[in-house]
Amino acid sequence: MQIVFLMAKSRRAAALLFLLLLLPSGVIDAAHPEAARGSGGAVASAAPAATEAGLEVLRAGGNAADAAVATALALAVVRPRAGNLGGGGFAVTRFGSEVKTLDFRETAPAEATRDMYLDEQGEQRPGASLIGPLAAGVPGSPAGLYELHKKLGRLPWAEVVAPAIRLARDGFTVDRRLANGIEKDSDLLGRFPETAAVWMPGGQGPEAGSTMRLPELAATLEAYAARGAPAITEGPIAAAVELAAHRHGGILRAADMAAYRPVWREPVRFEAFGWQVASMPLPSAGGIILGQTCGLLERLEWAKFSRFGADRYHLLIEVWRRAYADRVLLGDPRTSLASAAQLLAGDWLDLRAERIRLAKATRSDRVRKWSRDLGTQSQETTHLSVMDGEGNAVSMTTTLNGAFGCGLVVPGAGFLLNNEMDDFATAPGKPNLYGLIQGEANSVGPGKRMLSSMTPTIAWRGEDVIVIGSPGGSKIPNATAQVLLNLIVDGDELQTAVDRARIHHQWMPDLVFTEAHVLSPETAKALERRGHELRAVSGVGEVHSVRGEIGGEMQAAQDPRGPGAAGVVHTAVD
Ligand code: DON
Repeated sequence: MQIVFLMAKSRRAAALLFLLLLLPSGVIDAAHPEAARGSGGAVASAAPAATEAGLEVLRAGGNAADAAVATALALAVVRPRAGNLGGGGFAVTRFGSEVKTLDFRETAPAEATRDMYLDEQGEQRPGASLIGPLAAGVPGSPAGLYELHKKLGRLPWAEVVAPAIRLARDGFTVDRRLANGIEKDSDLLGRFPETAAVWMPGGQGPEAGSTMRLPELAATLEAYAARGAPAITEGPIAAAVELAAHRHGGILRAADMAAYRPVWREPVRFEAFGWQVASMPLPSAGGIILGQTCGLLERLEWAKFSRFGADRYHLLIEVWRRAYADRVLLGDPRTSLASAAQLLAGDWLDLRAERIRLAKATRSDRVRKWSRDLGTQSQETTHLSVMDGEGNAVSMTTTLNGAFGCGLVVPGAGFLLNNEMDDFATAPGKPNLYGLIQGEANSVGPGKRMLSSMTPTIAWRGEDVIVIGSPGGSKIPNATAQVLLNLIVDGDELQTAVDRARIHHQWMPDLVFTEAHVLSPETAKALERRGHELRAVSGVGEVHSVRGEIGGEMQAAQDPRGPGAAGVVHTAVD
């Protein structure tokens, strides 16, 4: 059995990205990395050691669920900025013809209250929902990853956890991305002595190229391998979470950890451009935004417009403006003011499409959100994509929210706690970390799941399967949509589709965010003439994707914006 493993060394990836950014809109340099190809399974993730963990498990006879969990747990070691045990996520799975989603999103602790981030004057307390354990939701990853394996995995649990234990106990090489990330966020990490002791001993982060060992995290993972989720959600580790949170003004309790349950949910399902698509339902807005995007673009006959011309970009922006306006109505499925069925209903999409004009931008403050009346007349993180040799697929996005979450490592457990509480509408009318204005449906409440934008997605047509998703906060659905459209509308090769430059719009602020050179100067001018305001950003998402023919060739592509790592098992595992 041969293994092809493409690792994006950070310098090479940076050079490639630089080349890409010099190119005119949508054109891809001949030197861009090739997708890895093989028929025994494929893994794409944000870190070489994590992709290798997934491949190792596939080679040992594991299936896509085993490999996805092994990859996610390895990310929890080598990519602490986003990979996690102290956060949460979502997975979309397709095993045979059965499609499911697993929601292991964090929940608000039992003591959370609607106005917990406001001062006596009703003003937002700066940083309260972002820094320190008061910002942390109840972690969903320990129970979620365990549940995914229990329901769909094939190998013994301990074998799936083993690569992560090895990385934490024996050490892993610190890459430039991690070293730079720690330096950039040294204020946050240095704020908590518990965190600094792990990630900045002696006040310094690790050098790129050095070996890092995480003995406390290794011990936590060993307990997890031996006893499953209860090893973390109950007993001494849960008690350590409560103690650490309490010491820094948090309200997370051991009882919250024990009470947490992941939930299997029906996916958001729709058809787009001849493909079947399954994506994440509430409490993520991602699947709804993706479904509205595709549904509106089909109605507007988007595919017939010139590929890199102003008309196509204009229509994308107009569609997203509307999808993100509807997002304000969304929240935990128990309190959401609109559902996927309502926002993806044919008559609502028809009405929305009718009001989009090709010649002129609509002002965002003029866009009416969905309402029952209108509806009856007529939307720091890491993504991984896995397929096994039988064509089973897992698309998984996990998050701590901001880079390194709330900044606090739990002593005795070795993992960082998230700051996912900021994904709630913590102050009415005020934008969150991603500039999203959110609604009452997403207010803080005990046990509620905060609204997400994460969009793990699987699309298929016949035997051809695409597994896709992205980090990027509010940009996630749009990064995912653009790569999917490159594949299913324009027939790009997988790596080309991932590489292409992207744009973003999210209703408010009423700005079009553009990666360098995504728009030719003429297209940019044409969009400005229609009333769009353009704003440069360094990146829109980080899409790690795999694609394969069931029983045939598979490809894995990493996003050079990352960089990540894409690899395949070259021949079927015997
Ligand atoms: O769930 C969400 O939508 C956010 N917490 C995701 C954050 C994110 O993608 C940050 N990373 N780039």
